[in-house]
This record gives sequence, structure tokens and C-alpha cells, in this order.
Amino acid sequence: MTSDDIYLLYHGLLLPKETHCADSLKFAQEFTFKDDDVLAVTYPKSGTVWMQEILPLVLNGGDLTPVLTIPNWDRVPWLEEKRLALVVDQLASPRALVTHFPYHLMPPSFHTSKAKVIYIMRNPKDALVSSFYFHQMAVFLEDPGTFDEFMDKFLEGRVLFGKWTDHVKSWRHTELGDRIMYITYEEMVQDLPAALRRISGFLSRNLSEEAIQKITEQCSFNTMKANAMSNFSLVPKIYMDPDKSPFLRKGVVGDWKSHFSSDQLARFTSVIQKELEGESFSLPWSLD
Ligand code: A3P
Repeated sequence: MTSDDIYLLYHGLLLPKETHCADSLKFAQEFTFKDDDVLAVTYPKSGTVWMQEILPLVLNGGDLTPVLTIPNWDRVPWLEEKRLALVVDQLASPRALVTHFPYHLMPPSFHTSKAKVIYIMRNPKDALVSSFYFHQMAVFLEDPGTFDEFMDKFLEGRVLFGKWTDHVKSWRHTELGDRIMYITYEEMVQDLPAALRRISGFLSRNLSEEAIQKITEQCSFNTMKANAMSNFSLVPKIYMDPDKSPFLRKGVVGDWKSHFSSDQLARFTSVIQKELEGESFSLPWSLD
């Protein structure tokens, strides 16, 4: 299969045809956001599926029913993917959605609504490593080639949803004011209860400590890895092959250290630093 068979090009971004099509992108552009919707935004491999677990729990005071009965892709659908049109009428309010769209591709109704946004950023070195394994297991994506080749593609933006730097920058330059909250994957790994308190405060949910502990347990890496509604084991192996790499793979910070050579680290750091030059925000981790 060639790259043209696998991806469609949407405003310069590569999107997998398996999960996206012209109709799903039109549906996203015409989607009507409600004021109480909550949207988690990520560059791929930065904690999307984790937020699909966290949001329904936080919004429903720790009720486990949605995360134990509805697959993540229907429970908190992707704005841009084909599934949304099929499940949108079944979503309970307040609705939670996820997207990999950069800010400038968000539909008009998003801007006029009061929907809240949580932007989750992950160290791009770990996002790259996670993506490399994801491309091995997701049969509907292009073979990643060697790690070195895949790093080049990642740095040039010839991967899903384009360049990491463009994505991060786009969501830093918004007019969303207090409608947006920023959090990092690393912060969530380091202290999930504290992250959950921040998220619930932002969403004006007054969760008891007991609820926070219950959600922490349900959203731990090991519990999610065992949850058939969240670990993609319901997806046939011809689409996702966990024997090649599980979707919930390691769930740690710093796995890049066992993948990057010193040359690769220098190359990666110099490209990312250059593209972020002059930006007013600073990264919470050192790139080298
Ligand atoms: P790794 O491949 O590094 O393990 P996304 O959902 O955006 O595709 O991101 C997937 C990454 O998030 C994977 O990273 C996955 O293991 C990690 N992840 C998902 N749930 C997690 C959790 N509860 N704790 C830590 N990491 C989690």
C-alpha cells in the first residue's frame, strides 16, 4: 500500500483513511458545540485515551458505569473521526470529546460556544517513541521504518496531524482565555490525584477525596490496561495487533532515553528548539 492509500490530506495534515473521511471532516466542521461540552485536545500519543477515561469519571462524580460499559471511542469520541456521527445522539450531557485538530481547524460553533478545553502536552521525545510503536501495531498506518527514519518523518511533520511544534503552538495562541486549561502528561504520571483535582476544579466539579481516589485507581495504567473498554482489545487484530505492541504500552516518562542515540538527541533538540524560538511559553522539561 502506498501512502496515498493510507492517508488523506486535510489542510496539509495526514489523517488515516481508516478512521477519517471527507464526510467525517464535514461533520466535524458543521458540529454544534454546546456550552457544557468538554474537549480534550492532544497531539497524537500524548494521553488522549487516558482523558477518555478521566473525563466521564470526573463529570459523573466517579460513577464507573461509562468506563466499564462503553468503548472509549464511543464514550468520548474524536471530533474528526467517522464514529462521531454514529454515536453523537447517544452521548449523555455534559458531553466529552477529544480531538487532534490544531486550533485553526476547530469549527465555527466551537468558538461561539463556552465549551471548555483541556490541552494535554507530552514531551515530544516520548510522544515520538510511543508513536513509533503505535505505527507497528496499528495495521492501518504506514510502517514506521527504522526509528531513525521515523524520527525524520516526525520532525518534518510527515506523520499524523503534522508537526508536534505546530500543534503545540496553535493551542497556545488562542482567544479562549479561561476556557482552556493546560496540563502535561508528565504531571499526570507524577501525581494523578493532584492532576484530577486540577481538572475537576477547572470543570467546576467538587469531587470528594474519596471520589478522587476512586478515579485515580480506575485511571491507573494497570487498571486501564485490563479494562476491555479502554485497551483496544475489542478491535480486531487485522486493525490493531497487540502482539506487535500493546496500545497501553509502558505509560512512563522518559522512555526516549532507551531509544535515542546522542546524534539523534542533538538533531531532535536542535529542530524543536529552532521551531519554538521566540515563543512566549516555555516547555516544562528540558529537551536535552
Ligand atoms: P506509551 O506508548 O509511551 O506507553 P494516546 O492515547 O494519545 O494515543 O497516547 C497513548 C500513550 O498514553 C501511550 O504511551 C499509553 O500507554 C499512554 N497512557 C494511556 N493511559 C495511560 C495511563 N493511565 N497512565 C499512563 N500512561 C497512559
